[in-house]
Amino acid sequence: MASKRNIVITGGAGFIGSHVVRLFVNKYPDYNIINLDKLTYAGNLANLKDIEGRTNYKFVKMDICDFDAFYQLMQDEKIDGVIHLAAESHVDRSIKDPFTFAKTNVMGTLSLLQAAKLYWESLPEKYEGKRFYHISTDEVYGALSMTHPEGIEPPFSTTASSSEHHLAYGEDFFYETTKYNPHSPYSASKAGSDHFVRAFHDTYGMPTIVTNCSNNYGPYQFPEKLIPLFINNIRHRKPLPVYGKGENVRDWLFVEDHARAIDVIFHNGKVAETYNIGGFNEWKNIDIIKVVIKTVDRLLGRREGEDMDLITYVTDRLGHDARYAIDSTKLQRELGWEPSLQFEEGIEKTVKWYLDNQEWMDNITSGDYEKYYEEMYKGK
Ligand code: NAD
Ligand code: DAU
Repeated sequence: MASKRNIVITGGAGFIGSHVVRLFVNKYPDYNIINLDKLTYAGNLANLKDIEGRTNYKFVKMDICDFDAFYQLMQDEKIDGVIHLAAESHVDRSIKDPFTFAKTNVMGTLSLLQAAKLYWESLPEKYEGKRFYHISTDEVYGALSMTHPEGIEPPFSTTASSSEHHLAYGEDFFYETTKYNPHSPYSASKAGSDHFVRAFHDTYGMPTIVTNCSNNYGPYQFPEKLIPLFINNIRHRKPLPVYGKGENVRDWLFVEDHARAIDVIFHNGKVAETYNIGGFNEWKNIDIIKVVIKTVDRLLGRREGEDMDLITYVTDRLGHDARYAIDSTKLQRELGWEPSLQFEEGIEKTVKWYLDNQEWMDNITSGDYEKYYEEMYKGK
């Protein structure tokens, strides 16, 4: 690919997007990086304060559903790469308001694809050197079961992983070939968008790539998601609403490792391929919550574990998927990516970041969000 590139990163003011924008702006001074974001409740330009004055970076406030505006941007900026992260991303919100998810995640993605198609097909070289990279989730694959091989209690290690540290709660994993089986309105909308991306390759020959990643954690995550929400609640000694019995399993990856994977795949991934991204790092919610409580307590100078009594079991999430576990062997083997951080290091770094950046957190959690949060958890 060319050394000079004009790239749009959608959703760059959100959690993962801001890490991707930062990585690309710092690593590729010759690229022209455009951060396109509508700045919904989840978008926050404070996430990118450290790079906002950089000459290879520009922010554009735009809705991905605005076809005309995006088509114009493609032409004006001679865009040759799209890295698409903009989405409605929170499962609980999708249960309350599925329409917004269909609109942004499905129609918004389709709008970007169609605008990119019209622009790239109008060029003499057409799709040569172009790339449309769509960031998706492991949730499209549905839910895995928690199985106990005879005589062994989970977690147990598995041969499916190249990592020595892998613990698993079942024998099966999500592979790139796993059939889609989404359960929540969020995952259904992401599945719909993935299908459109692949259809644009198969029908028009657009050079697309799709990746499906597991749960991310790290700095700048909106505090409606488990880890930042709980860190903030522990700090303020507020109850920690654990859904159901807290036994659901998620597979956690440090967000900067996801951003590094996106960089590697954008540059070296094969067109029309799918890559799973994950760190072979499964945790039951209740176990990760206990680690977070102990870490916050220790870093705040409290007695380690003294806030355990904040754990409050509440009504389960509707349709709550039991277990996610990604097999990322293909990405590790074919493109040489692997996670850089052990979970213990990652969680320490993450908790420390939120405690050191209380102003960032307080700006988000005051005002309207406070009202939304109270409404969301009323009756739980
Ligand atoms: P986020 O909610 O933190 O950020 C989403 C961003 O998209 C925000 O900046 C928001 O303003 C923007 N946005 C929303 N609607 C828009 C619209 N109509 N037009 C333009 N911008 C809009 O999300 P995130 O957690 O950073 O997730 C980013 C992407 O990665 C999503 O596509 C999500 O499905 C996927 N993903 C997330 C995770 C995770 O653990 N967070 C894991 C796997 C995949
Ligand atoms: O797997 C990738 C997905 O991970 C992404 O596609 C989504 O965008 C992202 O939001 C995340 O989805 P989850 O639903 O897994 O993340 P969340 O942080 O909302 O919840 C993690 C687990 O913790 C889940 O089993 C529900 C539970 N939970 C969550 C919250 C917010 C609680 O028990 N209590 C809570 O208050």
